[in-house]
Amino acid sequence: MQIINTPKSMQKIAESLRGKRKTIGLVPTMGALHEGHLSLIKRSAMENDITVVSIFVNPTQFGPNEDFARYPRAFKKDRLLAQKAGADFIFHPTASAMYPDNFQTFVIPDKIADKLEGAARPGHFKGVATICLKLFNIIKPHRAYFGQKDAQQLAVIRQMARDFNLDLKIVGCPIVRTRTGVALSSRHVYLSESELRKATVIHKALLAARKEINAGQRSISKLRKLMAEIIGSESGLYIEYISFNRWDNLEELRTLSGNTLISLVVRIGKVRLLDNTLIRIR
Ligand code: PAJ
Repeated sequence: MQIINTPKSMQKIAESLRGKRKTIGLVPTMGALHEGHLSLIKRSAMENDITVVSIFVNPTQFGPNEDFARYPRAFKKDRLLAQKAGADFIFHPTASAMYPDNFQTFVIPDKIADKLEGAARPGHFKGVATICLKLFNIIKPHRAYFGQKDAQQLAVIRQMARDFNLDLKIVGCPIVRTRTGVALSSRHVYLSESELRKATVIHKALLAARKEINAGQRSISKLRKLMAEIIGSESGLYIEYISFNRWDNLEELRTLSGNTLISLVVRIGKVRLLDNTLIRIR
């Protein structure tokens, strides 16, 4: 496995691999790798000749009062984990290599980025879309792998790929959870053991909603109430939102039907935990 630090050298390698007819899979990450990230790397290694993992804590997707400075960084450990999972290259640039002085061009996703996480974190998806487009141009992947855990991010990137005619396939991958059901996140390092234990109610609430829907429940307000009750059974958890949206364009649903994304954010202290489930409703 090789570690590449500059966009120019990465681009040269990608060019040469494409010249040799090798397929390239890209897994964009911000590091502090866990089993969720590793599942994407393993999937890419299965489906492509070459897998590139990018590790870059992208400053432009963090708001001024967010955790950019203290976001966990663990390059030495990440390097071993990525290699074991099947990565051939790690692209690990500096912030000044990605955003030199006088950087001026951003991708601004439209309506799809205004709601949910975009409403809670203004400018977040502008930063995400911009860095992903840059990574696509530097690494030239045939396929890029994203977790369903960040459902809106996946929808925004799919939309950008369509809108900009990007010549690559965006592959969505299932959420990886702890044994107790908590969706894995790099931000778990901020939580105590007892907080992580409390967080299991988030997945329980999603499972309960799913069960009710399968039993015929179609009232969004009743489902929301049920989920809030389950989450409220633990102290110290604060629900930011529970939302029901169409899963392709993220339009908010007034009545339950079709391909539905149920997503929620629960805060424990300052830590925002995201989770979601996709459900097909007839
Ligand atoms: P990061 O939070 O490091 O996540 C990298 C990828 O791993 C994303 O596609 C995310 O959805 C996926 N992932 C995270 N937790 C997961 C889990 N429990 N199960 C499955 N997949 C999971 O998302 C980002 O970084 C950044 O926004 C990035 C796309 C790299 C742009 O900077």
